[in-house]
Amino acid sequence: MTILINKINDVKNNVKIWKQQGLKIGLVPTMGALHKGHEALIKKALEMCDKVVVSVFVNPIQFGPNEDYDKYPRTIENDFSICLKNGVDIVFAPSTDEMYGENNKLSNTDLTFVCPPYNIVDCMCGKSRPGHFDGAATVVLKLFNIVSPDFAFFGQKDAQQLFIITKMVKDLNLDLTIIPCPIVREQDGLALSSRNIYLNSEERKNALTINKALKQIENLYRQGIKDTKVLFDSAISVLDKNIELEYLEFRNFDNFDKTDEIQKNTLVAIAAKSGKTRLIDNIIIR
Ligand code: PAJ
Repeated sequence: MTILINKINDVKNNVKIWKQQGLKIGLVPTMGALHKGHEALIKKALEMCDKVVVSVFVNPIQFGPNEDYDKYPRTIENDFSICLKNGVDIVFAPSTDEMYGENNKLSNTDLTFVCPPYNIVDCMCGKSRPGHFDGAATVVLKLFNIVSPDFAFFGQKDAQQLFIITKMVKDLNLDLTIIPCPIVREQDGLALSSRNIYLNSEERKNALTINKALKQIENLYRQGIKDTKVLFDSAISVLDKNIELEYLEFRNFDNFDKTDEIQKNTLVAIAAKSGKTRLIDNIIIR
């Protein structure tokens, strides 16, 4: 049976009973508009845990003033059916008031924030989205405190977020394990995203070159080319001319330092706009 819960205390009461029974709890944090990418995280959680909570919350404090918070797709009924179909135990869909109090004081003059290390948040997605990762890390810590999971599941799609959350768990001695999950793609290579619905057919076609550029880098690396300057130039030549590149970066996924030479565990990450839609994708060299 899947239940929809809006109140923090109701989740905590369920969790208390599960803990008394010695059950392993999994948490899949999401902002809803669930697709096959989210579903893969949910399936993994159900495989590994006795009880699974999926949170659905469009978190205002991780959106910038000119971002798509108001427009972000909200499809709770469909999200609930996907969770029901998969056998999730709790869908936790709190209101903003429930999460942040009735006055909705959401700035860092009123609210305690988690501040991940500056050099990890002030780059890549954090550069164009100031405050985004403070907001994401803060809500994720709140969700961890509400659900007390043994395992929490995050997609490699948001590699910088995955790195930041894993680091937060280590740095703040949280008693849970982060399980990274691979990127789920459409057959043609487009990484699934709740924002893909914004793309018209031309924009979607152009967006495919983002993944092509990453594949190009991986292929050249397999042929022995490791110099990131050479790889950068080659990848850029693959991108459609209508794709507006925000960044293409090469980082060591052990410490998030920039790297001049690709090697094992290098993260190759792209953010780019197709039309007005901002898309991200990446590969981690294995
Ligand atoms: P959201 O964008 O809804 O993503 C929820 C989780 O699904 C994230 O861990 C994300 O990496 C994963 N995900 C999204 N698309 C995926 C894909 N194509 N393949 C695999 N995993 C995918 O990320 C957030 O929400 C928020 O920042 C959140 C962590 C919930 C905090 O508000």
